[in-house]
Amino acid sequence: MGREAERRALDALVAGARLGRSGVLLLVGEPGIGKTTLLDYVASRAEGMYVVRVAGAEAERDLPFGALALAMGTATADLDELPAPQAAALRTALALDTGPPPDRFAVGAATLGVMTRRAERQPLAILLDDAHHLDRPSAEALVFAARRLVADPILVVAALREGEPSPLRAADLPVLAITGLDQAGTADLLRSADTAPGAPDRAAWVHRATGGNPLAIVELARTAAESETGSAGENAVAPLPVPAALAEGFVRRARAVGSEATTLLALVEAAAGDLRVVLGGALVLHLDPGTLPLTESAGLVRTTADRVVFTHPLVGSSAYASLTPDRRRAVHGAVVAALPKHETARRAWHGAAAAHGTRLLRTMRTPAGREMPRAGPAATAIGELSGTAGAPKIRAPCGWLRSNR
Ligand SMILES: Nc1ncnc2c1ncn2[C@@H]1O[C@H](COP(=O)(O)OP(=O)(O)OP(=O)(O)O)[C@@H](O)[C@H]1O
Ligand SMILES: [Mg+2]
Repeated sequence: MGREAERRALDALVAGARLGRSGVLLLVGEPGIGKTTLLDYVASRAEGMYVVRVAGAEAERDLPFGALALAMGTATADLDELPAPQAAALRTALALDTGPPPDRFAVGAATLGVMTRRAERQPLAILLDDAHHLDRPSAEALVFAARRLVADPILVVAALREGEPSPLRAADLPVLAITGLDQAGTADLLRSADTAPGAPDRAAWVHRATGGNPLAIVELARTAAESETGSAGENAVAPLPVPAALAEGFVRRARAVGSEATTLLALVEAAAGDLRVVLGGALVLHLDPGTLPLTESAGLVRTTADRVVFTHPLVGSSAYASLTPDRRRAVHGAVVAALPKHETARRAWHGAAAAHGTRLLRTMRTPAGREMPRAGPAATAIGELSGTAGAPKIRAPCGWLRSNR
């Protein structure tokens, strides 16, 4: 869906490879942005080509030449045609022979030799997914080969997460940055994935909240279909539900900043970017005052005179999603403490979100608590946050409160 420019670029590479003009491209982007989907697209266009598809796996990152063995497959016939030192090096690397650790240059040259020999028989497409997880010796051998392709019917396309170090990124290979879908693409994806009725301006809100990240859009459509929580749109008070696989990538960047960065980012999310509330809340939570400047230097947020703005909308919602319920309640408690007294509705909502079980009921009996949403998505969110069992149980005491006021 969408992605016309990317598809055109990939079509041109495939067409070039068929004509003997080799092509190399790195697809780089955040988790869930659609890199694997684009590799699927290349595979679908590579009819008649010999397609080798390998995905890096975190668990095999320390297994030298593990990925290269998958990429080379049963290359024994091609190996026999290589110069003897290269063949020997590659044999050892692929554990077809025993011997001392092979010379990396010889392995790289042998990899190139096997690729070009194969491509003489049939145009070759090598598709490397999650290439940031490739073991280093394999990645180096593949980079060595990719940099030396000239007039060969060979295409190498690799997908990598942005911000993850890799020999492929360090090499000067062409990069196509994969960014979010535009608003029209978001609307198309919502239409195809969404079973819940949505407001007409929903695509605009979803686009803003997800930055056009397809995985986040699909997840939002799914949760919206399953419950009311995700369909609250612009009026939602609770942060976006972010799938763990997606949150993990953003949270890793936060954790690299420091142990308190995730809490700070969740606080920014809960405080809707209000700088005064963030600074006040950070004091309440005893967060290191240096954390905000550090997250800014790391490119996760920008600060203006009165606001903290996420550089990507999923940074905050992912940080929030990664906290334990206890920690989330603490964050909401800090927001209550930092909000000005006259912000009764916001204080009431965060107060309820910070409360637990019976304390939630006590909060709801206060004058401010009476301003809390009585039903619908916000009440469901409060139920989830406060650790009570969700909307029906929340609504019962609400009804009781209303009739006893
Ligand atoms: N252009 C698109 N149109 C519709 N759905 C898409 C599009 N791109 C991706 N998706 C959907 O979004 C989800 C995530 O896409 P994908 O797996 O390709 O992301 P990724 O960048 O490979 O993520 P990761 O870094 O986690 O590997 C999938 O469910 C996929 O079907
Ligand atoms: Mg992927």
